[in-house]
Amino acid sequence: MKPGRPGDPDFDERRAKVRDKLEGLAGAKGGDERQDWFARVYREAGNDPAMVPWADLAAKPQLVSWLEENPGNGEAAIDVACGLGDNAEAIAEAGYYTIAFDMSEDAVRWAIQRFPSSQVEYRVNDLFDLPSDWDGAFALVHECFTIQALQGELREKAFPAIASLVAPGGVLVVIGWVGASADHTGPPWPLTEAEMGRFESLGLERIETLEFEAVRAGGKVIPHQMVVFSRPD
Ligand SMILES: C[S@@+](CC[C@H](N)C(=O)[O-])C[C@H]1O[C@@H](n2cnc3c(N)ncnc32)[C@H](O)[C@@H]1O
Repeated sequence: MKPGRPGDPDFDERRAKVRDKLEGLAGAKGGDERQDWFARVYREAGNDPAMVPWADLAAKPQLVSWLEENPGNGEAAIDVACGLGDNAEAIAEAGYYTIAFDMSEDAVRWAIQRFPSSQVEYRVNDLFDLPSDWDGAFALVHECFTIQALQGELREKAFPAIASLVAPGGVLVVIGWVGASADHTGPPWPLTEAEMGRFESLGLERIETLEFEAVRAGGKVIPHQMVVFSRPD
């Protein structure tokens, strides 16, 4: 793996350089080839995480803080569309038996390679074709930045697919960009408050909302939320 992490000048330069190339590939702006675009980003990255624009190489701090308050004791957790695995590793370290899946074989291979002593069970799975025994099976479900990366029919299907994983008495933690300025064009396509509310119409109850800001390259400040839902017993 090439050296560096976000914030290192050389890493940031490599990431900035690849942006135009990735934005020019089929599926970059949505449409039928969107799923293939993700797979291609990982495949063509050549093991350099600077080539994967969303790879922070660290778990989300808001998730880490939540896990400190809500540690596991062997309960089953799942990280939806896990990318390079940092969030899944934090969940496992907090005491949950953790499955993490992504549809990209290269992402899953790379996550396993990055964390050779991992306790996480990494899997190649499609959010839209989940194993039937995952239905209602997880005490903790974590989703970060996947819904906002999808559009149209796939996005519509993402809400019930993610909600289906939550066990009775379990919780869903959703992290994403919520609320966009009028002139914003995706991707990503930020969630609306109404979309966040869709999890409530799928039988979950909102129990916590944390608003925070993420600062992107160029100093752009972006409103985010971490919302925690629970499924009644
Ligand atoms: C923006 S990235 C976020 C990755 C990770 N959750 C994170 O926070 O860094 C979106 C991820 O969703 C994955 N993905 C897209 N469609 C998927 C699907 N149908 N099933 C599983 N993973 C999918 C992509 O491969 C990619 O890793």
